[in-house]
Amino acid sequence: MTEPNSDQVLESTLAVVSNPVYEEEDDQHIDPWTAKGSAKGFDYLKLLRQFGTKPIDETIIERIEKLTNMRVHRFLRRGIFFSQQDLEKFLDHYESGRPVYIYTGRGASSESMHLGHIVPFELTKYLQDAFGCILVIQMSDDEKYYFKGGESLDHFTDLAKKNARDIISVGFNPDKTYIFSNREEMGRGNPGLIDNMIKMASWVGMPEIQSAFGLDRPDKNGSNKTTVGQVLWPICQSIPSYSSSFKFLFSDDALCLVPMAIDQAPYFRVARHFSSASKYLNPACLHSEFLVGLSGRNSKMSSTEAEALPPIFLTDSERIARDKIKPCFSGGGETKKEHIENGGDLTVDVAYLWLTVFLEDDNELEYIAKEYSSGRMMSHEIKKRIADCVVEYLRKHQEARSLVTEEVVAHFFNPRREFDHSRPVREPLILLTKEQYMQQGANFDRNFGCVASV
Ligand code: TRP
Repeated sequence: MTEPNSDQVLESTLAVVSNPVYEEEDDQHIDPWTAKGSAKGFDYLKLLRQFGTKPIDETIIERIEKLTNMRVHRFLRRGIFFSQQDLEKFLDHYESGRPVYIYTGRGASSESMHLGHIVPFELTKYLQDAFGCILVIQMSDDEKYYFKGGESLDHFTDLAKKNARDIISVGFNPDKTYIFSNREEMGRGNPGLIDNMIKMASWVGMPEIQSAFGLDRPDKNGSNKTTVGQVLWPICQSIPSYSSSFKFLFSDDALCLVPMAIDQAPYFRVARHFSSASKYLNPACLHSEFLVGLSGRNSKMSSTEAEALPPIFLTDSERIARDKIKPCFSGGGETKKEHIENGGDLTVDVAYLWLTVFLEDDNELEYIAKEYSSGRMMSHEIKKRIADCVVEYLRKHQEARSLVTEEVVAHFFNPRREFDHSRPVREPLILLTKEQYMQQGANFDRNFGCVASV
């Protein structure tokens, strides 16, 4: 396939920008504030088409392994991160020895993060290790002030610092990670960031922002008026993806990769629109599926949905986590007899869907798929397996979190220190066969050919 020229890129960006994510006639509804799947769950292939992004295929997975000498994270192997933009260009840039960095972020609206929030950060941690590059994390206290409000600015900055403890606990390299409160970053007068803000704000039209985010619909942001802050926010979220926003960290030729959950995609469509129209490098993007909520596959895990089963917080005790998992939506038979006869439906079973996210071992996952879909494994057994997995994750996370002191947080937030820009050197990795790569990423069969007989 030949690369489109920059006019074509701009054209397709424009086409998508003017085509909001939000679609009335669709029962699937995804934007930065709402994520609702149809009864059949989320249709991610449809999103690929709607957003005009590319799947993560076997060719790119092989190339990442070759370049990094590391196996890819299971989220890439299993297609949980399923979509990308300009990842090839990012790899070209890296391969030619030019600088790269990673940018992601978090808007803290409560003290504790839940399991769904941590998925993109787990991939980010792998990416930082694999490419050995600098990571910047935007804690968007101002975003929450604009959209949620009701509290003081200090309140949201405080939440940002508290959430940062959970983020740091994922294991980011302290010499290669800069975390900032967006409010404080502006407050300290980062000149690169502010210049980019002015430049982008003077270029992007209001209608583009309003339509890309559905902000022209009064009900979209939970209030009946769209404020100037809400329209400004997409610019603030975009600019860290341009390396000149961090002159103390990067040269202007550093290329950015942004791992994110798919609901954040509209921000980076606007960001890429501006960069392709100016002399900035287009940030590359990686998009993940949502972690489904415990109530079923058509909603993401969320603390705000009233009818949903409560999410699992990173601070939950083992007992609480196990109790929360027990009532999760099951694809098993109504009765034991029925289950033994028909087997469980892997495509709706939350315990199974979660195992595809949290269980590392493909062989065990395949074994469970076979046993459960054939009715040999019972619902309570698969729920126990995922509960064990989650509890183990929480235990490790909480242990790591107990080591994150105020001083550690202050270190990550400090822009005035030495950062480690060195690239990792690793033994060459023995690559898999073409056939093995063919089964990965977009082609990974998460049900291992097991479809329930119902
Ligand atoms: N808007 C995101 C949220 O509400 C936070 C965020 C800020 C972000 N910058 C980002 C997410 C960059 C992904 C990439 O949580």
